[in-house]
Amino acid sequence: MAKPLAPALRGFTTPLTPTDYATLFDPLRGREIRGRITSVEQHGPFTTLTIEPGPGMVGTFQAGQFIGLGLQIDGRWRWRCYSLTNPPVRKPRSLTVSVKPVPGGEVSGHVASHAVAGQIIRLSAPGGDFHLTSPVPDKLLFITAGAGITPVMSMLRWLHQEHPGTTMPDVVHIHSERGPTPPDPFAAELDALAEESPSYRLIRWDSTESGRLSGQNVQSSVPDWETRERYACGPVPLLDNLIEAMPGTRTEQFHNQGAGAGTGEINPEDLGGEIEFGGTGVTTTSSGSTTILEAAEACGVNLVHGCRMGICRTCVTPITDGIAVDLRDGASYGPGEQIRTCSCVPSGRLHIANS
Ligand code: FES
Repeated sequence: MAKPLAPALRGFTTPLTPTDYATLFDPLRGREIRGRITSVEQHGPFTTLTIEPGPGMVGTFQAGQFIGLGLQIDGRWRWRCYSLTNPPVRKPRSLTVSVKPVPGGEVSGHVASHAVAGQIIRLSAPGGDFHLTSPVPDKLLFITAGAGITPVMSMLRWLHQEHPGTTMPDVVHIHSERGPTPPDPFAAELDALAEESPSYRLIRWDSTESGRLSGQNVQSSVPDWETRERYACGPVPLLDNLIEAMPGTRTEQFHNQGAGAGTGEINPEDLGGEIEFGGTGVTTTSSGSTTILEAAEACGVNLVHGCRMGICRTCVTPITDGIAVDLRDGASYGPGEQIRTCSCVPSGRLHIANS
């Protein structure tokens, strides 16, 4: 929507916005980032979704990052983060994720049994610090287990795309699986990569025969491990062990929820206060446990939002005056700073711009 026209059009479309009307004609347009599933493929335990992102999606991502997927299940939006498995390209017209059902996993189970081509879903922008650095290190060590292989597939596909054949950096990849080979759909691709690029070496760790992979096992399998930039993705016990045995290893759980790491202490007595929503003239009060978004809804103020869990950034709005505290990590924010209304509460009197 051209910016100069937007205020004039808004006068005709209130209480909806011009964007709400655009959504009627193109379901990929909306207040939040949307995507269309263009294919659903089952390979072994994984359901691979190819997704066409809507115009709200950022230009690209970095190999190893994840996105949030929002699906409507029983009338409510549920969100989970999944690693992207395709390599980054300049203007991504499609994104892929490979989802493995986890016991009791509402979203992963839904994807496996209900996802269909043509379905419109919500997306959060790619995020996460677990990605290849630039320039690419000369020597790399990837350590993966189970579904932890997914972000590393994006890295390997990108390395193959940018450094094909003999130009591939020196990469050793240890993958642990309950069985002799990595899972479908990745096993054949990794074999082909090893054949084409002699500097890529795959070490298969069968945990049913050799026991759980540990830092000690990695060190004895890759004697020059200290000279390699190391990335590990898998279950928490493995990662904890690797961090202790091999400090400096970059790690990622395979079900990263994308929330920021805790940085501040939360003192419950500091939380709660009056909130004024700029431009509306409406004021309400929030207890220390009611987020700004919830408090707004309770008093009839419609704040733009998406996931409601601090991932998608749709709800980000600036503070005009006062202090807000993010319940996810205790970080506090002041005037001029951007906050997520779905995860922040006021600390004293707060004035926010009405997004
Ligand atoms: S609604 Fe998604 S981050 Fe707040």
